[in-house]
Amino acid sequence: MGCTCCKNGNSALNAEAKDIISITGKEKEKTIPILQEIQSRKGYIPEDLLREVSGVTGIAVSDFYSVATFYSQFRFTPLGKHLIRVCNGTACFVSGADILFDTLSDLLKVGDGETTEDGLFTLETVACLGCCSLAPVVMISGRVYGKQNSDSVRKLISSIIADEAKGEKTAAEAGQTGGTA
Ligand code: FES
Repeated sequence: MGCTCCKNGNSALNAEAKDIISITGKEKEKTIPILQEIQSRKGYIPEDLLREVSGVTGIAVSDFYSVATFYSQFRFTPLGKHLIRVCNGTACFVSGADILFDTLSDLLKVGDGETTEDGLFTLETVACLGCCSLAPVVMISGRVYGKQNSDSVRKLISSIIADEAKGEKTAAEAGQTGGTA
């Protein structure tokens, strides 16, 4: 007897797809909640899981993609190990957030929402992070760094890369929050 799971593709993916729609429902109007549930589990929208969910719900893969590409909240590639968020809110913007972003983008050779080839960093702009008095603000792996400039963000990245090279746990990974560099 042949492998029955192959009828529906990977059995683990199929089980996960069913689990997702058991939470969200599978009607077409649930397209956004389904995408949100996938992304909250995986950190992005993996194509293989999306295809499995499509098979289970009957919602076309192309329909999922047309919705997902419309909303900037959805991503199609995995997050890097360190998520860098450059605040682009008003206080940060007038304090030079665009310069910080350009510095990081040039340094890491990625654009907004992109991940470095080595998978170490994802760079993105975000709306106000809620600590405007520290503008301009960058958040790296959940830790806030305030009053930043091009030199200080370069140093932050160099420090993380050096720690990664040594295999050490960085301060950001240790979950420290609220500090300033
Ligand atoms: S505008 Fe950047 S923290 Fe508020």
